[in-house]
Amino acid sequence: MRLPPPDRPETEVLRQHLHSLEGALDWPAAADVARPWIDAVRAQPAPFWALESLLQEFPMSSQEGLALMRLAEALLRVPDADTAIALTADQLGRADFSDASDSALGRLAHAALALSKHFLPDVAGAAWMADGMPRSHAPSGSSPLARWGAQAVVKATVRAVQLLGQQFVLGEDIRQALTQAARTHRDQPHVRFSFDMLGEGARTEADAQRHLASYREALDAIDRSQHQAHTPALADGLSIKLSALHPRFEEAQRERVMAELVPRVWSLCERAAQANLNLTLDAEEVERLELSLDVAEALIARIAAEQPQWQGFGLALQAYQTRSLALVEHVIALARRHGVKLMCRLVKGAYWDAEVKRTQELGLANYPVFTHKHHTDIAYLACARAMLAAPDALYPQFATHNAGTIAALLQMARRCEARFELQRLHGMGEAVYREVLREPLISCRVYAPVGPHRDLLAYLVRRLLENGANSSFVHQLADPACGVDELLRSPLHL
Ligand code: FAD
Ligand code: 2OP
Repeated sequence: MRLPPPDRPETEVLRQHLHSLEGALDWPAAADVARPWIDAVRAQPAPFWALESLLQEFPMSSQEGLALMRLAEALLRVPDADTAIALTADQLGRADFSDASDSALGRLAHAALALSKHFLPDVAGAAWMADGMPRSHAPSGSSPLARWGAQAVVKATVRAVQLLGQQFVLGEDIRQALTQAARTHRDQPHVRFSFDMLGEGARTEADAQRHLASYREALDAIDRSQHQAHTPALADGLSIKLSALHPRFEEAQRERVMAELVPRVWSLCERAAQANLNLTLDAEEVERLELSLDVAEALIARIAAEQPQWQGFGLALQAYQTRSLALVEHVIALARRHGVKLMCRLVKGAYWDAEVKRTQELGLANYPVFTHKHHTDIAYLACARAMLAAPDALYPQFATHNAGTIAALLQMARRCEARFELQRLHGMGEAVYREVLREPLISCRVYAPVGPHRDLLAYLVRRLLENGANSSFVHQLADPACGVDELLRSPLHL
């Protein structure tokens, strides 16, 4: 085992992290830098975004928010009209939307939902038949008008869910996405993209081959779109998920994974190296970390041997893991051992709810992720400091939408005069980055999902959880009741 075990006592780990930050960061000074950004964002918010507004209206902690979340998660996958009607009726019927605020969206949502309830079968107290339809109100037994109305409601709901998705997707295919990206390059020449071809967790070999083909196609298209000589840091690139490329990407299938998955990813590395682009492996579930590292190490060894000039291979590292600092140190050592420079994207981590649930199911004594939001922030800053101190091994890429975190990163990077870039997700953090990027020397990359709506769900649910969590920066930023001091409170305490 090259990393410490994942389920480590939280406070013990955090004490070391806090210690490593002593003297490295002046948080009040960073907060002073971030304060005007927040004031400016609140004075001039980003253009209307469906998801943020919806989550303000119906928070995820409410019955209504949960109902909408379940609908978003499931509705696009339901293949037949009757089940879609039953599902919509069930979810909307469970919640009481009458408390919607007096805002325009609140009134609109209230009116739409009232209309929906009029047409959908009444699930309250209904007996359910074996096929999941409410016995007394199954649409098959209803009048044609009611049935037509129910179908229209479901169509409108599906459309609303697709609209939510549009916030996060740059294009339905790579060609569309590159056209959008070209527009951004014209307006903001210092902004780069990392495209993400949607699709993950392959269930079959056919899925894996489809994803591989789509990654290859994307690399070809990105290569064709680059008009000037570039380094990986100055060009658009691609992010990929290992779980998309093998149906059994799991510890128990280690031998198969090394024999079958590594050559697939290597073929992508060769293409990215030839085009001199950044190719990053996204970070997924904690239980895949060790295996991902083995795959990465096999690739790094081959890069050192066959493509030593290429400095575009990248890894995403999750700070919310209790062993994140050890992970960063391990990756730095790996790069030095093989004489390769890596691009490393530091993220806080997008699978928090799933990790917590999984640990509870397994009945483990400790979680593999931190359980207090500010503990993840401390770990993020400690990892960032370690990354900034290793410019020979890593090009640091800091992915965050949190203004306080960004200001702290800028301060630490300036102190050691390190090169780095900031990153955000397409559809998130626009307004904060509008303010941060007023300083022209800061590099920025946007992670941009590409693909049809049917492939978006897993990604969309992670964004819903992220935008909806009370503790999340973007959620608090959109909440006028949350003061600036509260938003910028120092995380540096246990
Ligand atoms: P903040 O609001 O400051 O932080 C929110 C984060 O804090 C949550 O996402 C979670 O990580 C953590 N958190 C929330 N509640 C708790 C709690 N109770 N205890 C402990 N920690 C908590 N994520 C991946 O997992 N893998 C990737 O490969 C990946 N790639 C990304 C690429 C880019 C360019 C970007 C911008 C994000 C990527 N993400 C990835 C998603 C990323 O993890 C989230 O966007 C990020 O955590 C949000 O952090 P923030 O600083 O913007 O917001
Ligand atoms: C995710 O897929 C952005 O990689 C991150 O949620």
